[in-house]
Amino acid sequence: MCGIVGYIGNKESKNILLDGLKELEYRGYDSAGIAILENDNFTSFKALGKLKNLDAKMAEFTTSSFSVGIGHTRWATHGKPTELNAHPHLGESSYVVHNGIIENYQELKKELQDGGVTFLSQTDTEVIVHLFEKNLAHTANAFEAFERTLERLEGAYAILLVHKDENDTILFAKNGSPMIVATDNDGDIYFASSDAPLIGKASNVIYLDDGQYGYVKAQEIHIYDTQGAEVHPAFSTLPTSKLSAQKEGYRFFMEKEIYEQSDVLLDTLLGRLSDEEIMFDEVDTSLLHGIDEIKLCACGTSYHAALTASYLFEREAKIRCSVEIASEFRYKKPLLSTNTLFIVISQSGETADTLETLKMAKEAGLKTLVVCNVDNSSMVRLADAALLTRAGIEKGVASTKAFATQVTLLWMLALYTAQTRRSIDQQALRKQLRILRKVPLASKVDGAMHERIHRLSKRYLHGHGFFFIGRDVFFPLALEGALKLKEISYLHAEGYPSGEMKHGPIALADPELFTIALMPEHLLYDKMKSNVEELSARDSTICAISPLEFDKADDFLKTRQHEHYMLEFFEMMVIVQLLSMEITVRLGHDVDMPRNLAKSVTVE
Ligand code: AGP
Repeated sequence: MCGIVGYIGNKESKNILLDGLKELEYRGYDSAGIAILENDNFTSFKALGKLKNLDAKMAEFTTSSFSVGIGHTRWATHGKPTELNAHPHLGESSYVVHNGIIENYQELKKELQDGGVTFLSQTDTEVIVHLFEKNLAHTANAFEAFERTLERLEGAYAILLVHKDENDTILFAKNGSPMIVATDNDGDIYFASSDAPLIGKASNVIYLDDGQYGYVKAQEIHIYDTQGAEVHPAFSTLPTSKLSAQKEGYRFFMEKEIYEQSDVLLDTLLGRLSDEEIMFDEVDTSLLHGIDEIKLCACGTSYHAALTASYLFEREAKIRCSVEIASEFRYKKPLLSTNTLFIVISQSGETADTLETLKMAKEAGLKTLVVCNVDNSSMVRLADAALLTRAGIEKGVASTKAFATQVTLLWMLALYTAQTRRSIDQQALRKQLRILRKVPLASKVDGAMHERIHRLSKRYLHGHGFFFIGRDVFFPLALEGALKLKEISYLHAEGYPSGEMKHGPIALADPELFTIALMPEHLLYDKMKSNVEELSARDSTICAISPLEFDKADDFLKTRQHEHYMLEFFEMMVIVQLLSMEITVRLGHDVDMPRNLAKSVTVE
């Protein structure tokens, strides 16, 4: 979740790079940096937090002749957000920026350290620049050294590298992370990890393919394929709208964010999971000392993530867990005990009600933790400890990827609590860790399923309401499905525990009542089945979501077979998100900015 820019030409390069990074800031903003090589002088700047901090640091700096520059805005994966971990990373006489993950960096780092190299950062990226410089000693030129370096890298990357001895060159490579090379009418050359920074600056672009790499010099672009043969891809014309470029080809931010979930979940897990344990650098185990209860507090979608987690805390960590709606909790004069760990969950970290409950808990002397997507937000600054969900900026008002990452992180926290309190045996923990690794795949959008949901959606545009029903963790998912639908389609929808339907709501059942039934194979399937049969007998229109064939439904969305109910949870999560979006599109409402709502609710 980082952003990359590069420039080579005669124009003032600082502003080109800063402007480009501004367009990419939504992808990550815990730190940023720029390195510029003008004549033989390297100048580099790094700053923590938002881009304006880097801008301020560079206020006095400007270029006046031909220069070569690279820039990066970071969303921390390996290593905390610090200036040392910010890109560009420096070797003896080269700088590198990188987006992606070098999977074998530990092995490479050890090899380089054994050869006497000192590392300054905790990042995987720094191995690239040191490996390059080591290869440089045995090769004819920087390009050959770069080729040798790439041969050793495993994982996903987009890389830009500049080296002092070739002060008119940028070396680049792309494998699994996006990278674009572009030119303007003067022949100056630009790089960026998406279209947006290039719009208004460059006119022609080449979208590099995986495995391509090469170098650019003033007015020259050389691209090579995986076999090392030079290729000459055709230029395309840049789109002209920045907004559509940021949507990366999707119709709405919400759609892009649904599709992004699988990738951002990899970031949520990154560096926090071994085969044997959960590792949270950000949290000290002392946070759990003397704790015999967990209280989770949040609003809206974050509340649904909390409710999901409450099942996992009690089941896996065997610790009492309660969940509170922040706007209720703050006025109920709650009895708080210092044996309780108070956890707030918030995408933005700014929601007024949730923030207030955090203050209350602190004042009452409770230990506090925040699960948040935005570093340096008010809650992150206030809580004793923070775990960042790493979802990247979420633009759609209807929260999707924030929810996915919150549930995953809270599940990891339940396992971390279990391992710290020794309330789970090693074999069971190992199994859960193995299943957690499969969450990104379970959350991947299946194109055929999306198409089917699109077709199905036309049958669900009227009626007197929707019931999303489920049991156990599928009850909070039902609540979340109903919230998604009502906030963007303006149709009335409720989430219900399916066992509760017969205690009242079933009175509403008729063909104009739409029931969306979440029927996982691995959690109370038979119970769920009889609840849905009760509704079917009363002629409610039923859309069943399940991996198991079910003939009492009017519509059936068949999910993949998984080995664990949490994997079924994530696949069904994607389905209810897409269903809400497709119904909304047909109704002609604004998917990303629904009426009456705001992305961050900083008022009571
Ligand atoms: C859900 O789609 C909403 N945007 C809303 O319910 C949101 O989750 C709620 O306002 C809480 O926001 P937070 O996570 O930023 O605290």
